[in-house]
Amino acid sequence: MLPKTIEIQEQRVFMINQLLIPTKLEIIEIRTIEEMFMAIQTMIVRGAPAIGVSGAIGLALYIKVSSPADMLPEKLRAAADYLISARPTAVNLAWAVKLTLNYALSINDSNILKNKIWEFVSNLAADDIRINKAIGVVGAEHFNANRKITILTHCNAGSLATVYWGTALGVIRELNERNKIEHVYADETRPRLQGGKLTSWELMQDNIPVSVITDNMAAYVMKKGLVDAVIVGADRIALNGDTANKIGTYGLAVLAKYHNVPFYIAAPVSTIDFQIETGSDIIIEERTSTEVTHINGQLILPEGVNVLNPSFDVTSASLITGIITEERMINGDYRIEIEKLRSC
Ligand code: MRU
Repeated sequence: MLPKTIEIQEQRVFMINQLLIPTKLEIIEIRTIEEMFMAIQTMIVRGAPAIGVSGAIGLALYIKVSSPADMLPEKLRAAADYLISARPTAVNLAWAVKLTLNYALSINDSNILKNKIWEFVSNLAADDIRINKAIGVVGAEHFNANRKITILTHCNAGSLATVYWGTALGVIRELNERNKIEHVYADETRPRLQGGKLTSWELMQDNIPVSVITDNMAAYVMKKGLVDAVIVGADRIALNGDTANKIGTYGLAVLAKYHNVPFYIAAPVSTIDFQIETGSDIIIEERTSTEVTHINGQLILPEGVNVLNPSFDVTSASLITGIITEERMINGDYRIEIEKLRSC
């Protein structure tokens, strides 16, 4: 069984170092807010729900060593802003940190807060698992197929991208438990290879049949009729259903439309940004060019070549067959359906 991506034990924090998967499964301790910031930014921990919970825990780590003066509201707000600045696109980070900040601000006694904050972030972590399992059930009920099906996925929206279980891979895991998975195609997902390195690794741990394809093979497998549905995760969903996810998702959605393959997003309600109208309001993270020029530290392109490295893209709602949330499957008029989730 996979270990949890993030584990809290007696006010200490442990996480899988995702930079070493699949070569090595190493659990590291994160001791300070600065270490948590770096873990998020360097992608030791990555995936929208996982960085959300990590950011929240980062605030708990700050509070753990703070004097009462360092826990004044403006200091807590500054610590929260610092954590949120680690990565811009996934709304879950800001969502979870702000939730934790508001909780911290609601407790006046700093000694009480030092204990209570760990209860709060532990509950957030436990909620993430519960929510992923619910997403899995909603998705599996939807596919309720009378035969085994083949799913194509992109990046890693699995256990590693959450505290445990996963969103898109949560649906696949639930389908697999119901003996309904024929096969999974995992896009390699350049530049960082989350599909090749992480998704294939975690599906293999669970004995779920998986083949890695390079990103440019998706059209081929769809044209051959090998894919029943595409299921991917999300980093931010706008009120109109436009969805930011790992770079390449948009292209995959266009391909799916052309080949009449249903295209689903699996994400918790916390990935919906109720503040933004459309996907054009989503800030797309641009990461260092070495992610493109190098693989495993090795230069693979001409030295000094220019590259573009947007880490995410936005898929228009019109290309999305449905959004699988822990509450229900959303489709049809996304604006109306998403609005109904505001109070969840
Ligand atoms: O850059 P990453 O690896 O953090 O990007 C991850 C993704 O794009 C995932 O698909 C998304 O966060 C959903 S995770 C359940």
